[in-house]
Amino acid sequence: MNRTTFAFAGLFLAFFAISACSEASSEEESARTESPSQPSSGGTQPVAVTALLTAPEGATDVMVQEGREIYTGVGICAACHGPDGTGAIGPDLTDAEWLIGDGEYEQLVAQILEGVSAEEATNPLGAIMPPKGGASITEAQVRSVAAYIWALSHSD
Ligand code: HEC
Repeated sequence: MNRTTFAFAGLFLAFFAISACSEASSEEESARTESPSQPSSGGTQPVAVTALLTAPEGATDVMVQEGREIYTGVGICAACHGPDGTGAIGPDLTDAEWLIGDGEYEQLVAQILEGVSAEEATNPLGAIMPPKGGASITEAQVRSVAAYIWALSHSD
């Protein structure tokens, strides 16, 4: 990466962080201003995606929410698995099909911690996943991002 791309990537990340914050605060605001008795305008109300996601046993809704931010942010998972998790270099994480493990929560935590070695990988290119996807995230962050992945694959 040369200096310019590096600076650009920095800006991009900063933008991500800022938009993630402002998104959070506008959600809070609408939660305050919208009363549940308000008549609906007939159509389906837009709902934040994570509102539909259920946390696995051993994790919380807050972890799922945090996991979503880690997925596209510091966890850099989106770089290989796509911004919406439907796959790119890495496989689709939103379907109920698992290439390596059984997709249970603790297995996902372990899989993300250790990554996927060349021996384990099933893709024809032999692409691997470094431990934690190569990101500098803590085990707690891995548990949150695993909760998010679990929830993604258990929503319809
Ligand atoms: C450098 C690219 C890359 C990054 C970054 C990356 N992955 Fe992966 N991931 C892969 C590849 C490649 C595989 C293996 C697919 C195969 O079997 O061939 C994989 C597999 C997985 C699997 C197992 C999928 C299955 O079907 O069994 C999970 C879960 C997973 N990744 C989650 C994550 C999470 C969460 C992050 C972010 C912390 C992440 N990955 C970051 C490339 C990546």
